[in-house]
Amino acid sequence: MFYDFSKKPALFLAPMADVTNPAFRHVAHLCGADFTYTEMIHSDGFNHGDPYAKNRGFSIDGIPYGIQIVGNDSESIAKAAAGLEKFFAPAAKVIDINMGCPSPPITKTGCGAALMAQDFGSENHPANIVRRVCEVAELPVTAKIRIYKDDEKTIRLAKSLEDAGASAITIHGRTRGQMYSGNADWKIIAAVKKELSIPVILNGDIVDEKSLQTATELTNCDGYMIGRAAIGNPNIFRRLKSYLKTGAPEIISLPDEFETRAADLNHYFSGLKQYDLLPHVNVRAHAQWFTKGLPYSREMRLKINELHKEIKIRHLSDDELAAERESLIFEISNVFEEYAEKCRREYHEEM
Ligand SMILES: Cc1cc2nc3c(=O)[nH]c(=O)nc-3n(C[C@H](O)[C@H](O)[C@H](O)COP(=O)(O)O)c2cc1C
Repeated sequence: MFYDFSKKPALFLAPMADVTNPAFRHVAHLCGADFTYTEMIHSDGFNHGDPYAKNRGFSIDGIPYGIQIVGNDSESIAKAAAGLEKFFAPAAKVIDINMGCPSPPITKTGCGAALMAQDFGSENHPANIVRRVCEVAELPVTAKIRIYKDDEKTIRLAKSLEDAGASAITIHGRTRGQMYSGNADWKIIAAVKKELSIPVILNGDIVDEKSLQTATELTNCDGYMIGRAAIGNPNIFRRLKSYLKTGAPEIISLPDEFETRAADLNHYFSGLKQYDLLPHVNVRAHAQWFTKGLPYSREMRLKINELHKEIKIRHLSDDELAAERESLIFEISNVFEEYAEKCRREYHEEM
């Protein structure tokens, strides 16, 4: 097994394109995420030598993690799985197949959630993809799916993945049509969990202690995967880990919360710099995410927006772009420091 699910409940960081690069995954891990995944790596891209996977698919400090593959063809996905597991050995522990991404540029090429529309028996039905990948990959294989409108159909799909050899499945409790709207349906995930013997990881709308508590009580799943609530806020894993230990939400003052967020951001920036990721990451947007929910967040976002405008990115080499972004992250860190101090000052005045 790629993860020791006896340590229940596990907290997973969701695979997220343009978010879960190695530096972000590393910070999330240090904050308490039990397991993390790469951004989706396109099987055809990897098979044709696209450097994307190499830039974003590795693990810092050899921390165990999962590789997520997106593709539209069982042979291509299987070939990429066999190549990726060798390339990222030994830290990569599992191959996860993206069968849930609803974004039109992905589904219109038959990838992601489009796979869930394939007929049983077709080569590219999710179960046949898992079967084929299991034949060629040495690592365990898992699948990340969405739900159908029809509960029975969802259970049938989940069982077919188990029968095909999946070591675990992750279910995002929304249909493809819902994209990210409405609420995730945890009841159907509970029904799937009852039917399967392999670990089931719940995904969708885990945002805080209360949602985690409700989801665990309702579903008894083996893992809980967090996506959007961790963007710009890897500290959510610290909070939830502490909650699982003590049974009570952590009380933390605003200045402390601010400083933790600023420290996590600095740590993240150091990782981007140290591992040559700066040319590949829009650091301004990522920094904006880190202001989410903090006092003065609007003011900070406006300020960050005005900092060190990059000149014509298209004409910059990777090295030049990295140098530009290094200046930018220095200035962004100063903004966080300035406002963290302001927060502490005003907090003490109020006391
Ligand atoms: C910016 C972004 C990028 C995402 N990229 C991926 C991806 O690469 N692979 C994947 O399986 N799901 C991807 N997802 C979906 C998430 O993994 C997750 O299923 C979804 O956000 C629901 O969980 P949440 O309610 O905790 O956010 C992405 C979601 C977001 C918001």
